[in-house]
Order: sequence, then structure tokens, then C-alpha cells
Amino acid sequence: DHVEYNWYKGMRLASHLVPEDMDDIQDFVVRDDDVFIITYPKSGTAWLQRIVSLLHFGGDVSKTDQKEQDELVPYFEQKCGDSATFRKLPEAPSPRLLKSHLNFCHAPVQLTQGKGKVIYVARNPKDVAVSYYHFHFMVTTLKNPTSWEQFVQDFVNGDLSRGAWHDHVLEWWQHKDNPNVLFLRYEDLQKDTRKEVEKVAEFLGWSVTPEVIDTVVEHSKFKKMATNPTTNKVDGKEVKGGIFDSSKGTFFRKGVVGDWKSHFSDEQSQWFDAFYKEKLGPTGLQFDFEG
Ligand code: A3P
Repeated sequence: DHVEYNWYKGMRLASHLVPEDMDDIQDFVVRDDDVFIITYPKSGTAWLQRIVSLLHFGGDVSKTDQKEQDELVPYFEQKCGDSATFRKLPEAPSPRLLKSHLNFCHAPVQLTQGKGKVIYVARNPKDVAVSYYHFHFMVTTLKNPTSWEQFVQDFVNGDLSRGAWHDHVLEWWQHKDNPNVLFLRYEDLQKDTRKEVEKVAEFLGWSVTPEVIDTVVEHSKFKKMATNPTTNKVDGKEVKGGIFDSSKGTFFRKGVVGDWKSHFSDEQSQWFDAFYKEKLGPTGLQFDFEG
């Protein structure tokens, strides 16, 4: 495990993310119809990629499944300076669908000023910590955690790629009422997927029938995505870019609310809750931890 993190403005980045590229991102020329799915890692990015792609193709599953999900909705900032995807973005047809883990303060300036559209997804920090912990074992550009105890410390302190969860989520939460931002929560998607999918379609201004919504809900289910080779980027096959080691874990792990209970001790849980109560309390942002 010889992974060295990169640094960008005081924040750790996985070793495949290049700090110099991050500066170019701020000047990215945004189009009105660009769609950015933005998250702190492990908060439902792939789920939204699927929902947005299916909506884009009007619920036509066979059309949607002609390409892999990460080709339909590429990772915006990954190796952006030299990646073919990033270089081709200026000529890519509209609407450009992109996924990203950028903090608000590192996002393209035009996006933060209201151009293009942002679907931000947040998930309760306990389940994110658990999901991110397991993810570190399977991603070759992230350090293997030495223990769960240490990982929780690092998570709270923001000593991980993409920095602190609370900085990321709260920055975007502060801008949730920007007309070009839709702020969603993973737990709401679990509770009433249909309602959240309708919100997404309306926000994007894409007119869809109730039948299309039905199809989108059906084909974005955890089990469907886990067994679909166009959405399951890890299991049972080699992965592009080589950053996933599928012998070390699975991307479609559990997909539930409340798995934190199998990892947090009572003491950890109380300490963690107290920390986030202080951070989130004054902001009005709340999460469902129970599922
Ligand atoms: P778990 O590790 O808790 O299972 P991201 O896409 O942001 O990396 O987030 C990955 C997390 O979302 C994983 O959580 C994964 O299982 C879950 N996930 C992916 N697709 C999902 C779906 N269709 N429904 C519910 N959860 C999903």
C-alpha cells in the first residue's frame, strides 16, 4: 500500500487526481443545459447517474444501456487535464451529463454563478463513513485504512480524499436555494424514489410521462444496477482506468440506510453524533439514520 495523496488547497486528493488540473476546472466554460451530479463520495452518485441517464433517454432502457454509465455521465475532474473526455467536452453535444465530487469553492465559477444545473446528493455521515471505509480497500488510489477506529477519526477530521464531509455538504447546502441547484438526500431517494425522480425531471425541465417515471424507478433499483453490466463498473470485470480492485470488494455493497449500526460502537456513535450535531444543528440540515 504505497499510495501517496495529492494535495489541493489544504485538501487531500486520491493519487489519480492532479492538483494542477483542479485549477483549470474553475475556468471551465459551462453551458446552460449542462447537468452536474455532485456529491461527497459514497452518497449516491452512481444512483443519480442512472436516474439522469434514463430520464435523458426518455426511459428507453435499451438505448441507455448501449453505453456504460460512466461514458454517459463521465467523471468531470478525473485526470481532467489529459483525459480524452475532458478535452472533448467543449465539442461534446448538449446536454452534457457529468458527475463530480467538487466542493462548491472548487467548482467551475460559472456553475457557482448560476449557469448549468447541479443535482447535489447528500447522505447521512454515518453511512457515508462506512461506505467510504469499504471503498478504500478496493480503490487502488486510496490508502487502505489501518482500522475502523482510525478511519472514523480521519473522516471526522477530513483527513481523506475530498476533505471533510461536513465542509462539502454544508457548502452546497448553503447554496441549496440557488435556482440552478437541486439538493437531494439519499435517504429520501430510498423512502420515495418516485417522488425524487419526479423532482429531478422537473428541475431539469425534461417532460416525462408517468410511465417513463415508472421505468426509471424500476431500472435504477439497487438490484437491477448491481446485475447490469452497463451500470456495475466493478464486479466481475476489469475496470477502466484500473483504479478498482474487484477482488477487494464490491461497489454495490448494501445500498441501505442504517448499515452504520454494524460498524459503530455505542461510544463511537455518541461521540460522532455530538460532533455532527454541533456542525449541522445551526444549519437546519437533518438526516434520517434509521432507514
Ligand atoms: P453502500 O456502500 O452503503 O452499499 P457512490 O455512487 O456515491 O459511490 O455511492 C455508493 C453507495 O451507493 C454504495 O453504498 C452503493 O451500494 C449505493 N448505491 C448504488 N446504487 C444504488 C441504488 N440504485 N440504490 C441504493 N443505493 C445504491
